[in-house]
Amino acid sequence: MKYRKLSGTEDIIPPRISLWQKLEREVRAYFESFGYQEIRTPIIEEAELFIRSIGEFSDIVQKQFYCFRSAGGKNICLRPEVTASVARAYVENALYQKKGVVKFYYISANFRAERPQAGRRRQFHQIGIELIGSQYPIADAEIIFLLHGLLKKLRVCEFTIELNSLGCEDDKKKFISLLEKNIASKLKGLCQTCQERFGKNTLRILDCKNNSCKNVLKELKISLKQRLCPTCFEHFLELRTYLEALKIDYQLNDFLVRGLDYYTKTVFEITSPRLGAQNAIGAGGRYDNLIEEVGGPPTPATGFAIGIERLLSLLEMKEEEPKPVVFIATQNKNLKIPAFATMLTLREKGILTEGDYQDRSLKSQLRLADSLGVRYVVIFGEEEWSQDQVAIKDLKTGKQFNIAKDDILKAISDINDA
Ligand code: HAM
Repeated sequence: MKYRKLSGTEDIIPPRISLWQKLEREVRAYFESFGYQEIRTPIIEEAELFIRSIGEFSDIVQKQFYCFRSAGGKNICLRPEVTASVARAYVENALYQKKGVVKFYYISANFRAERPQAGRRRQFHQIGIELIGSQYPIADAEIIFLLHGLLKKLRVCEFTIELNSLGCEDDKKKFISLLEKNIASKLKGLCQTCQERFGKNTLRILDCKNNSCKNVLKELKISLKQRLCPTCFEHFLELRTYLEALKIDYQLNDFLVRGLDYYTKTVFEITSPRLGAQNAIGAGGRYDNLIEEVGGPPTPATGFAIGIERLLSLLEMKEEEPKPVVFIATQNKNLKIPAFATMLTLREKGILTEGDYQDRSLKSQLRLADSLGVRYVVIFGEEEWSQDQVAIKDLKTGKQFNIAKDDILKAISDINDA
C-alpha cells in the first residue's frame, strides 16, 4: 500500500455513506421545522479566534490544535469546533442588525489532534445549533428540548442529560477561587495533568476521570447557592422549571464544567452508557460573552453540538445501496452509441440505469446486471435493432420479449412506476 489514510480519519464509502445521508436529511428537516437555518463557515480560521474563545489553557488549544503559518505570516488553524466560527460570522456579517433571535444549524467537519481511540477521531463531524440573541432560559429550554427530541426521533435509547450552571463570569471566578481554596492542600493527591491545571484551568479538575482526582474531590462541598449570584441562580431555577414542564428528564451534575472557556450559566452534556469511555453524544451550553469577545455587541447565545460518529454508533439504521431499475446491455459494438444514448436519456428522466463501461461480452453484462440486483435488462441486439426493436429480459423469470425502440422510455417508466 503506497498511501494510507491518516490515523484518526475515516473514508466514508458506500453503503455506509447512506447512513450519513439519511441522518443528515432527517436532521435538516427537523431543525428547519423549528426555524433554524443552515450556516456553513470556513474550515480554516485564524487560530487566535479559538485561543480567545475556547481558552489558551484548554486542552484543545494546548494539545489538540492543528495550526500552520500562512504565506502572509498569519497563524491559521483547522477549526476544532464551530461555535466560535459562528460567533465570528455573526459579527462579521452584522447579523446583530436583524430583529429577534438568529437561529443556525450546521453539519460540520472538525479537527482535533487527539490520540485516536474508540469515539475519538482527529477529523470528526458534528451536528449543531446556535440560538443567538436571547439571554432568557426559554432559549436554553428550546435547545435542550430540540436535542432531546432529536435523539428520541432517531430512536436513541439510554441517554442521560446532565445539567449544571456555571453562572456569570464573576460566578465562575468565585467558583474557581472556592475550588482552589478547597483543594490547595490536597494537590499532591491529584494526577499530574490536574496539578498542572491548578491555577490555569482549575475548573477542568472537576471532570477529570482519574481515580485519585475523584478521591480528592469526593469530599468537596460547594453548593449552587454559594457559587451562583441571585440572578444566575434564578436563571437556572427557571430553566429547570421549563424542563420539568416539558417533561424532559435530566440529572444535576455539580461537577459538569466543560472543556471550553466560553461557557457561562447553563452547561449540559448528553451521555450514553453504550458509548464506553468517550460517553458524550453531545454537549452545549450558554455563551453570553463570546460574541462581544470576538468584537460584536454584547449578545447572549446558547447552543449544542452532537458528535455524528458517536451518534451513528448508537443508531440501528440499515445501510442501503441504491439498486438500478434497469441495465442496458449491447450485443455488439455497433450498437454501443444508441445504447449509451438511451442509458443517458433514462438517467435524465430520473430512472437509475446502469450499463457496460468495459466492453464486456453480452453474457458477462447479464451477469453484472444480476450482481447489481437489477431485474430488467434492455438488450440492444443486432437482429432486433434491424427491425427497430430491442429485447427486454426479465432476469427473475428468464422471460424475454421485444418492444419497438421508440417505446423503451415508456416501457421502462412503467417498470419504474410499478
Ligand atoms: P464539545 O463537547 O467539544 O463541544 O463537542 C461536542 C461533541 O462532539 C462531543 O460530545 C462529542 O460527541 C463530539 N466530539 C468532540 N470531540 C470529538 C472527537 N475527537 N472525536 C469524535 N467526536 C468528538 C463543542 O464542540 C461545542 N462547540 C458545543 C456547543 C455548541 N456549545 C455551544 N454551542
